[in-house]
Amino acid sequence: MKNLSRLLYYLRPFRIQALWHVFFNLLSILFSVVSLMMVIPFLRLLFNKQPLVHTPPPLFTPTAAWADGWFNYQMTQLIVQQGKPQALLFVCILVAVIFFFKNLFRYLAMYAMAGMRNGVIRQIRSDAFTKVLALPVSYFTEERKGDVITRLTSDVQEVENSIISMLTIAFTEPLTVLAYLFTMFFISPQLTLFVLLVLPLTGAVIGQIGKTLKRKSHLAQERLGMLLTIIDETIWGMRIVKGFNAQQQQTAKFETENKAFYQVSSSMLRRRDLSSPLSEFMSISVVALVLYVGGRMVLSQSLSLEAETFIYFIVVFSQIIPPAKSFSTAFYNIQKGLASVERITKILDAPVSIRETENPVPLTAFNHSIEFKNVGFAYDRQPVLSGIHVVLPKGKVLALVGSSGAGKSTLADLLPRFYDVTEGEILLDGVNIQQYRLSDLRNLMGIVTQEPVLFNDTVFNNIAFGMHRPVTQEEVEEAAKIANAHQFISQLENGYHTPIGDRGCKLSGGERQRLTIARAVLKNPPILILDEATSSLDSASEKLVQDALFRLMQNRTSVVIAHRLSTIQHADEILVLQKGQVIERGTHTQLLGKQGVYKQLVDLQAF
Ligand SMILES: Nc1ncnc2c1ncn2[C@@H]1O[C@H](COP(=O)(O)OP(=O)(O)OP(=O)(O)O)[C@@H](O)[C@H]1O
Ligand SMILES: [Mg+2]
Repeated sequence: MKNLSRLLYYLRPFRIQALWHVFFNLLSILFSVVSLMMVIPFLRLLFNKQPLVHTPPPLFTPTAAWADGWFNYQMTQLIVQQGKPQALLFVCILVAVIFFFKNLFRYLAMYAMAGMRNGVIRQIRSDAFTKVLALPVSYFTEERKGDVITRLTSDVQEVENSIISMLTIAFTEPLTVLAYLFTMFFISPQLTLFVLLVLPLTGAVIGQIGKTLKRKSHLAQERLGMLLTIIDETIWGMRIVKGFNAQQQQTAKFETENKAFYQVSSSMLRRRDLSSPLSEFMSISVVALVLYVGGRMVLSQSLSLEAETFIYFIVVFSQIIPPAKSFSTAFYNIQKGLASVERITKILDAPVSIRETENPVPLTAFNHSIEFKNVGFAYDRQPVLSGIHVVLPKGKVLALVGSSGAGKSTLADLLPRFYDVTEGEILLDGVNIQQYRLSDLRNLMGIVTQEPVLFNDTVFNNIAFGMHRPVTQEEVEEAAKIANAHQFISQLENGYHTPIGDRGCKLSGGERQRLTIARAVLKNPPILILDEATSSLDSASEKLVQDALFRLMQNRTSVVIAHRLSTIQHADEILVLQKGQVIERGTHTQLLGKQGVYKQLVDLQAF
């Protein structure tokens, strides 16, 4: 129910289109009923099954008798004046014209709906994407990427089908069925009442199958998400897959998922495809039942049902079958769509654990210091950081060193609030960073991550990424020069306008690194967070990157995670982390004097 109301919420802005849709549909239905109602009585007149009516009916009354009389009179006039062949021709042309209009209005109804169904999809997709951006970093370490992508693409598409079906169920088919039922009631109230008694039975059977369909659709979409994850990983890790001759292994993994997806979606399709034959069979059974009951009525002549009226009734009744069929198909599509709505809702309603404060303290500049006060952090239960105390005055450099997994990157992630501390607090100019608006806080920071993050775009756009104002070529070049990147960029085919491929795959490791540094230079933030990954570079490019970092750090406040200790010899304070705790602290010379862990690290790197 919640999912349905969510869908309705998205439909609300399109009320006008929906009204047009209903309006045109009504016209279309009207024309189709009229054509049917006209032909049979006319043929009866034409073939002398019914005597011609030469007197017009008395004053208009809304009864079947009046309509019958009026119609017969008009048709008699036509037959008398034009002769039978001409009258036949006239009626045939009239039928064609009426059906032309019927279909024209049907098209207009669909036309009105096209903007609506795509508009809803667009809104849902855009809301989901916005939400994805609002979700904390931790959400994406917990969820499969493929699954998130499936929810934003394939699931949204399912919703589209479901929306068309919803309109079908809500407006089109009920109106059609009602129109025919009305006509039937006109012809024979008793038989119509009988039909109304048996129809709900068929509805119950169809509804039962719809339930299992929703569950299966859920499973299928989940499987699709897993498939996407494997595809993504394989393409991303192509070198390793090939280098380790793991093609077969990867194919096997893919095939397992592919097969599972095949099985669950086949089973789902089979169930869905049941809807149309099932409802046709059930409707025909009802028709047969009516045929029997009505036939008995005609035979016994007790209820004054004439044979011709009865045949006419059956013809109109049989017209209910196609809408009834599409009604049940639509019902099944809705079930499938609701499963997808549920999956999208999971994203739309996912809690944003990094919360904005209600009354943010204004923050436009960094003036005094950053202070970690007894900071502790745990991803799950296991503490990754504990008891971190440190003050970083403006303009100084704080360096974090320690073995792999000590918690350095984690500590750096706490400052821009990618994660919130689980213990203690971080103060910026004396105020808890949670009291600032997130965007204000992050505006003060430039971040160079351990793994370079680049987008499939040009060099220029990658450097200018995230700038909230137009950037000139000179500015970008200036930044690239400081980052030691200008030279290699100038040698690229199109210079600054060369596309660099997915995640920058057309560049070397060091080049990628220097691009991300240039990005930070251009942003020119007062606070820098550098997670250097120089360990992956050769000494020549390492030198280039380190030079770039030095220049970047000038006149700024920096938190530097250094793997190469030469980077941080001039740091104002060095924290040596081990298992999430500070075990040594001081300047480079002080720490060397201690003959402790830091000295060991330095000695190790001397080679
Ligand atoms: N998203 C996560 N969920 C759970 N645990 C995590 C997550 N990210 C990191 N960890 C764990 O937290 C600990 C600290 O990781 P962190 O990335 O901070 O180490 P590091 O000091 O930066 O190491 P390195 O020098 O190798 O970059 C590690 O034990 C790691 O397994
Ligand atoms: Mg790290």
